[in-house]
Amino acid sequence: MNILVTGGAGFIGSHLAEELVRRGETVRVLDNLATGHLENLDAIKNDIEFLQGDIADENVAQNAARNMDIIFHQAALPSVPRSIKNPRASHDANLTGTLNVLIAARDNHIQRVVLASSSSVYGNSAQLPKVETFEPAPLSPYAVTKLACEQYARVFANLYDLSTICLRYFNVFGPRQDPTSQYSGALAKFVQCARHHEPFPVYGDGEQSRDFTYIENVVNANVRAAYSEFDGGAVVNVAGGARTTLNQILSLLNELTHQNLPTHFAPPRAGDVLHSHADISRARALLGYEPTVDVKEGLRRTLEWYQTH
Ligand SMILES: NC(=O)c1ccc[n+]([C@@H]2O[C@H](COP(=O)([O-])OP(=O)(O)OC[C@H]3O[C@@H](n4cnc5c(N)ncnc54)[C@H](O)[C@@H]3O)[C@@H](O)[C@H]2O)c1
Repeated sequence: MNILVTGGAGFIGSHLAEELVRRGETVRVLDNLATGHLENLDAIKNDIEFLQGDIADENVAQNAARNMDIIFHQAALPSVPRSIKNPRASHDANLTGTLNVLIAARDNHIQRVVLASSSSVYGNSAQLPKVETFEPAPLSPYAVTKLACEQYARVFANLYDLSTICLRYFNVFGPRQDPTSQYSGALAKFVQCARHHEPFPVYGDGEQSRDFTYIENVVNANVRAAYSEFDGGAVVNVAGGARTTLNQILSLLNELTHQNLPTHFAPPRAGDVLHSHADISRARALLGYEPTVDVKEGLRRTLEWYQTH
C-alpha cells in the first residue's frame, strides 16, 4: 500500500510511520516541521519519502495525496493553550488544513482517511466515562477545530463516499514527545523533571485526572482503523480506558526513578478540562482495539527511552 502520513515528523506521526515501514508499506510523510522534528524520522529516513510543506496550502495537499491509497492525517497544531493565544494559526493548520487533505483525498480516490481527533471535543462534561454519543462541548479554539474536522470527515463520507474515521485520542504519551515547547503536554514535562531531579510544576491541585494513553496503543488503533470495516464518518475514542490523576502520575514517576521530588502547585489554567476518561467500547467493537500497555509500563518505557536518547 502507498500511505501518506501528514504530520509524520511529529510525536504520534513518526511512531506511526515507523510501524508502517516495519509492516512493509510504502510511506510518504508530509510535514512543515512547525512542531515536528526531522530527527523523529532518523530511524526510517532512508525508507520513506519526505515532503516538507504546509497542508493549509491546497496544492501541497493535492501533491502529497497523489498515488496514495491511505492517508493518516496527524498534522495539526496541537495544544489548547496555543490555540487560545493564537486561534487563527490553529484554525489554518487544523481546519483549513484538514479540509484540504479531505478534498485531496476525494480527488485522488483515496481508499481511507484516518484522522486524529481529540478528547478535548467533550469539554468539561461531568459525566464519565466519555462516550462518543455525548453532546460535544468544546472549550477552546483547538477543540472547536477538532470537532469541525470530525464533521467535515462525516460529511465527506456521506457526500463523496470517502471512507473516513476520526480517532479521538486521550492524552497520548511516550518517547519523542517534545517536552521543550511552552505548549508541551504536562506528562512530557513531568518526565523531564523526573530525569533532571526538578520539582513537578502542576496547575491546580493535581487531582485533575486524565486517560493517559501510551503511544503504542494509539499506533495500534490507527493501523486497525485503516483495515477494519465500519461506516464512513465514524468517530471512535482511543485511550487506555483508565483514569489517573496527575498526583498519581507524579508518585509513579518518583517510584520508577527512586526519588521523592516535590510538586509546585500553581493556579488552574483557563480552558483546561478537569477530568477525562474514555469509554473504549466502540473501539473494541469496531476496531478490535485493546490497550496493551498501561500507564505505569508506558512511563517506564518512556523513562528508559530518554536514558539512551
Ligand atoms: N499528543 C496527544 O496527546 C494528542 C491528543 C489528542 C489529539 N492529538 C492529535 O494528534 C495529532 C498528532 O499530535 P502530536 O502529539 O504528535 O503533535 P506533534 O506536534 O508532535 O505533531 C504534529 C505534526 O504536525 C505537523 N504540522 C503542524 N501543522 C502543519 C501544517 N500546517 N502542515 C503540515 N504539517 C503540520 C507538525 O510539524 C508536527 O510534526 C494532532 O492532530 C493532534 O491534534 C494529540
